[in-house]
Amino acid sequence: MDRPPVLSANKAAIARAADLLRAGHLVAFPTETVYGLGADACNDRAVAAVYAAKGRPRFNPLIVHGATIAAIKPLVRFDDRADRLAAAFWPGPLTLVLPRAIDCPVSLLASAGLDTLAVRVPAHAVATALLEAFGRPMVGPSANPSGRVSPTTAAHVAEGFDAAAVALVLDGGPCRIGVESTVVDLSGAAPVVLRPGGITAESIAPLIGRLGRPASEDTLDAPRRGPGTLPNHYAPNLGVRLNAKSVAGDEALLAFGREVPQGAAITLNLSPAGDTTEAAANLFAMLRLLDRPELACIAVMPIPESGLGTAINDRLRRAAAPRA
Ligand code: TXA
Ligand code: MG
Repeated sequence: MDRPPVLSANKAAIARAADLLRAGHLVAFPTETVYGLGADACNDRAVAAVYAAKGRPRFNPLIVHGATIAAIKPLVRFDDRADRLAAAFWPGPLTLVLPRAIDCPVSLLASAGLDTLAVRVPAHAVATALLEAFGRPMVGPSANPSGRVSPTTAAHVAEGFDAAAVALVLDGGPCRIGVESTVVDLSGAAPVVLRPGGITAESIAPLIGRLGRPASEDTLDAPRRGPGTLPNHYAPNLGVRLNAKSVAGDEALLAFGREVPQGAAITLNLSPAGDTTEAAANLFAMLRLLDRPELACIAVMPIPESGLGTAINDRLRRAAAPRA
């Protein structure tokens, strides 16, 4: 397999990276914590390609990166606590989980079906220059295949990916901090540290009061908690019927592939071409569109367990699980 090209992060390379992002490609970039796998946060297909490149078995929501606080603010609903933390620690290794703004342009797939978005302003000259050249929000999970350790050099990144998946790796040298950002969830009444990281809980607490206990990275995998255990987790109001081969007139149909049963009240096709990356890009937006109170349920056609099909089926099984 071909490794992605690695370019020293000079002006020309950063301009090239911004062009690639605009065209929907993936570009790895350095931050002060670890290298990130960047993609246009507002492009559903590009966000789906990030999950595909990482090979995540389920959709774990992504952090959206901005060049400045002003670039982040329109995406989420800031409160006083968020203002204080952002003023104190941005740019820097702190990620805030906040409610999505009503008109948030970021792909629903980046939120993995939650009504919240994780946001941060990285403190690294190359990351800032890339975000400024691109001029839009960028998703940036750690640039490692799922289950491997996070990369702190450009060489680590290049070892993990094929050139077909990652168009370019910007080399900005080794990362200064070397562990991921601290993730603080401000979407509930009490702030909770979801992931310990580059900024200690002790330095955050004086600004916002008592913090909840840190969770392990594993418990933070929101969709795994099952429907209903997270208050803001989006599950359709309608029931979900899996592996539908036929459909009734009072049902919504979430189709996949070319051979679609007729007769549903409304049909949306995740991917007429049968492409699981395209299907992932459409999944959360289409579930919302089909969730109409006058209908009996959302019937879902079988989706293959290949590519992003595994993560799609994981999410759909949760949506179909019996509710409390
Ligand atoms: O330091 C970092 O944060 C690096 C650099 C590249 O910025 N990025 C990073 O991203 O570590 P990632 O995707 O590997 O980790 C993001 C973490 C995940 O554990 C995810 O579950 C959590 O943040 N997260 C993202 N969005 C969330 C949300 N809306 N609610 C709760 N947790 C969220
Ligand atoms: Mg990671």
